[in-house]
Amino acid sequence: MVKARELLDETRKSLAALEPDAERSPREADWLFRAVTGLDTRAVLARPDELISAETVDRLRDLVQRRATGEPLQYLIGDVEFWGRDFVTDHRALIPRQETETLVESALEVIPKDEPRDVAELGTGSGVVAITLALERPLARLVATDISGDALRLAAENARSWGVDERIRMLEGDLTEPLRDPVDVLVFNPPYIPSVAFGAIQRELAYEPRQALDGGADGLDTYRRLASSWRDVVRPGGWLFVEVGAGQHLAVTEILGADEPKLWDDYRGIVRVVGTTR
Ligand SMILES: C[S@@+](CC[C@H](N)C(=O)[O-])C[C@H]1O[C@@H](n2cnc3c(N)ncnc32)[C@H](O)[C@@H]1O
Repeated sequence: MVKARELLDETRKSLAALEPDAERSPREADWLFRAVTGLDTRAVLARPDELISAETVDRLRDLVQRRATGEPLQYLIGDVEFWGRDFVTDHRALIPRQETETLVESALEVIPKDEPRDVAELGTGSGVVAITLALERPLARLVATDISGDALRLAAENARSWGVDERIRMLEGDLTEPLRDPVDVLVFNPPYIPSVAFGAIQRELAYEPRQALDGGADGLDTYRRLASSWRDVVRPGGWLFVEVGAGQHLAVTEILGADEPKLWDDYRGIVRVVGTTR
């Protein structure tokens, strides 16, 4: 058994020593500590001598070691916030990023609150985009696809937790191939990191599924493949929204043959979504 205050200090020190980002490590230490012990820092200050069981201490020390080798915090905690809601995240799918909220924002602009629309998300991963659209637009009928069965199972679990599993049809398959009926709105956050960038980029990405990230030599392969099929599944007057990597919007606009593209910036001011109509 270890006293709460001592264990919190130990966790902060271990992560500070092991984690290169000195600014981030105390916050991460506090999150990990709370996720494992159930105590936030205020509770520790109020009851510093509260004893933490040996089992909990071991579990926390194990997670600190895993964090130190680069495993993303979100996978260790098993939980991520998206659009103000909590979702389960694990190795089966990409960890949802805050910039992907821009994809939701763009789609919500064309899905009315008071009329039904058919909406499909390709590559749903953990399901956060499709689930958020279902929750924000209760009349929308949704399909969510992924090429990874593992990711779809996680998406289904998240959909069940948020009570929208009955409203989202989950289909496994390549790009638009699983879609049987045309839709009004198609959204996709595809893999768009250039293959050559792997290795040079953050070590944490090594823990996420490669097929969720790797967009081929220049990062644009999936957009090229989508360009030949998206018009077959989007109704005339309907919309396609795709997330893009920093600096990719012009190339993607051209690849998709978007005449009058609409662009959305993310919270950092980077063009993050290209939208186009059919
Ligand atoms: C960048 S992740 C996006 C995950 C999730 N939508 C999000 O925004 O957090 C890309 C997703 O597309 C899926 N994917 C990759 N290639 C695909 C393809 N050809 N057809 C369908 N899904 C694909 C991956 O498995 C992964 O879940």
